[in-house]
This record gives sequence, structure tokens and C-alpha cells, in this order.
Amino acid sequence: MSKPKIGVIISSTRPTRFGDKPAKWIAEHAAARGDVDVEIVDLRDYPLPLFDAPASDAWMPTPNEVAAKWQAKLKEFDGYIFVVAEYNRSITGALKNAIDWAYTPFAKKAAGFVGYGSVGGARAVEHLRNIMVELQAVPVRHGIHIGGSDFFPIMMGQKTWDDVKANFDGFVPDLLNNLVWWTNATKVAREADATKAA
Ligand SMILES: Cc1cc2nc3c(=O)[nH]c(=O)nc-3n(C[C@H](O)[C@H](O)[C@H](O)COP(=O)(O)O)c2cc1C
Repeated sequence: MSKPKIGVIISSTRPTRFGDKPAKWIAEHAAARGDVDVEIVDLRDYPLPLFDAPASDAWMPTPNEVAAKWQAKLKEFDGYIFVVAEYNRSITGALKNAIDWAYTPFAKKAAGFVGYGSVGGARAVEHLRNIMVELQAVPVRHGIHIGGSDFFPIMMGQKTWDDVKANFDGFVPDLLNNLVWWTNATKVAREADATKAA
């Protein structure tokens, strides 16, 4: 089996967003393991319209060029880490719209989560886990939640991510060990399916 590839998805697009900082951090941790290839995927690079296709890509080829590019990028990966902010107790609108444009790429692949917000993005991550179930993905149990006394000072401009990031290093092995286990298991199973179908 070739080395699995993990996509780290930055789920917010605001010019002053926080999301790229924990994305870079978790991508570096994942790459340091040496058993997976890692790439950061930025929603800003896929300026998708609000979903306006006649049907999802589960039912028809996508008619939008940016969405086709987005789907093609997602299909390169065997697993994903969503780095997601909590917007109004759910995921960002940008991420939900991007997921609506890409049903098929996530099927039978693993997904892990890094959330941030007042309660560590927990409500957003729970919504996202449920969305992953609809897409036939495998959302892992473990996640990293940047919240409360760590996130509030960052949001208020009193501290930076570099001041607090070490507080989260201890949670990384559980997330990545589980994500990589499921990424490998689903990759083997997808490859067996492909061989059977050939
Ligand atoms: C529209 C909007 C809604 C928000 N709603 C919540 C929320 O429900 N819960 C929460 O903990 N933080 C909420 N926040 C605070 C964000 O978690 C915080 O601003 C975070 O930095 C946003 O992610 P970003 O910087 O990557 O865009 C909200 C922020 C915005 C802009």
C-alpha cells in the first residue's frame, strides 16, 4: 500500500481568520510522524458559488468548474483533518457550502477534527461529525478543541496561538493515531473493492 495522504482543510475564509494557525500546527505534527503525506487545503483557493447545481455530485457530474477542481483535490486524499471554527453553534457557512459541492470524494474515508471557539468548537465539530455520516465518511472519536481560557485571550488580541499551542500537543497523538488507523483501514478496503470491480 502506498503512503496515505491526509488533507488538512482550513474551513474559514475571513481575511483576519485564526484557522490557518492551528491548521499549520496540526499539519506539521502529522507530517512529523513520517507515515502519512500531508497537504493543507485552503477554502480560499476554491471560490465556490452558493450551491446552485441541479443536483449534488452524488447524482450527476458537477457543472461548475471551481467545484470540479475542489472535488478533484479532495479525491487525492485518503483522510482529512477539518480545522473548523464555530460560527453560530455550527460549522462555517463556507465549509457547509463547500461540502454540499463535494459528496462523493469523502465516501469511505476517515475524518478527524480540530475545533476552536468558546467551547473549543465542540458544537461545530459535533455537527460536522453528523454531516460526515451522511457523506459515508468515518468521523473519528478523537478531536482537539481549542477553547475557553486558551482561545478567549487570542480572540481578544491579548495572546497569540504561539503562546498557547504547546497546551494542545498532548492531545495530538490520540487524534492522529486514530485518524491514521482508520485512514489505513479504509484505504485497504477501498483498494480491495477496486480490485474486485476490475
Ligand atoms: C459569524 C460568527 C459567529 C460566531 N459564533 C460563535 C459561536 O457560536 N460559538 C463560538 O464559540 N464562537 C463563535 N464565534 C467566534 C469564532 O469562533 C471566532 O471568531 C473564530 O476566530 C472564528 O474563526 P476564524 O477566525 O477562523 O474565522 C463566531 C464568529 C463569527 C464571525
